[in-house]
Amino acid sequence: MTSRNINRRTLLKSGALLAGGFSFLPGKILATTNAPLAPVIFSPETDESVVLSAPPDIKARLSANENPFGPSAKAKQAIQDAINDSFRYAFGSSRDLMTKITTFEGLQPSQVMLAAGSSPLLAAAATYYSKDGGSIVTADPSYDDLTRRASMSFKANIIRVPLTADYKTDLDAIEKAITPDTKLVYLCNPNNPTATVVDTAKLKSFCERVSAKVPVFVDEAYIDYLDDPQSVTLIDLVKKGSNVIVARTFSKLYGFAGLRVGYAVAQPATIRALSTYCEGAMSISATSIAAAAASYQDKEYMQQVKAKTEASKNFLYDVLKKEGYTYVPSYANFVIFPIKIDGSKFSMEMAKRGVSIRTWKFDNKEWCRISIGRMDEMEAFAAAFKEIS
Ligand SMILES: Cc1ncc(COP(=O)(O)O)c(C=O)c1O
Repeated sequence: MTSRNINRRTLLKSGALLAGGFSFLPGKILATTNAPLAPVIFSPETDESVVLSAPPDIKARLSANENPFGPSAKAKQAIQDAINDSFRYAFGSSRDLMTKITTFEGLQPSQVMLAAGSSPLLAAAATYYSKDGGSIVTADPSYDDLTRRASMSFKANIIRVPLTADYKTDLDAIEKAITPDTKLVYLCNPNNPTATVVDTAKLKSFCERVSAKVPVFVDEAYIDYLDDPQSVTLIDLVKKGSNVIVARTFSKLYGFAGLRVGYAVAQPATIRALSTYCEGAMSISATSIAAAAASYQDKEYMQQVKAKTEASKNFLYDVLKKEGYTYVPSYANFVIFPIKIDGSKFSMEMAKRGVSIRTWKFDNKEWCRISIGRMDEMEAFAAAFKEIS
């Protein structure tokens, strides 16, 4: 938990947050009137705990990196069409989605595993690679779902490597941090929470070299937001035989966070190993899998989402500049920027104004990570931010 923002728990213990009118508890909001100062188990902070602890009258939910523009019209239509047949197992839709993905990427079906979002695949990898002990090397900060599970369930030793001065994954330092007991390298590109990308040629040569010794897991949850994801993805290395595992999700650009569809691309032996720790296509509902097949690579829809995301992001950049703040240029649907007050206080003040965001602490600074929302949500953020900045 080196860089996680866990200050809220400390604050809750001291009762300080309750002074703000409500307390941040995962799953419920306690009004201060007659609210008991009960012990709170709340660690570490996650997108889920922040969303669940937001006030009910939230105006802008900018804390879970969702796509607020929603699934495509084709996906919604497919959901409606699939309902009538939903008493049947969705074998046909699973095959359709699998065919679309393997055809588009030039993969064999044995190299792909579907699942209900990418989280179950991250969890399966956490189990498979840490059940016998050893270490996992990752960037700090980065998305910590896989590493958190590995350390909590199997006491895996997580070696966290700070980012470069420009907040990118430090590939050279990660390579140096690998030890004889390292079981996995986990990277996220674009990285969450910094929304930075590493140089593609450098990443590819790193993965080719390192995966000859240790498997490399590359989480590409946000890659669809890039101009040319096909030139950045590591799927090519899987095709060339490298021991690389790529995780992809429909939760972000496709707007499927609540529908739950994702997939992993890896060597057939790795796919077989992961499938012993995670249910695959059978865990996806008939409606969701039909929707994914209907909207996969829907270029027009993808362009529209990217354009709306860019417009909201540029609005945010302008607000930050006008208020005298800097930010890390973003290659995804969220932006991180250094804040000038304690992260817990910042979150609390934003939440009081109906805006949910997340905070981090790293590089001796407090940071706000804000997911890109609809324009009305960005305006709600701007109004709240101007009051407290
Ligand atoms: C980097 C990264 N990977 C994976 C996930 C999990 O996504 P899914 O909805 O596919 O389980 C997230 C969610 O925010 C994420 O940020």
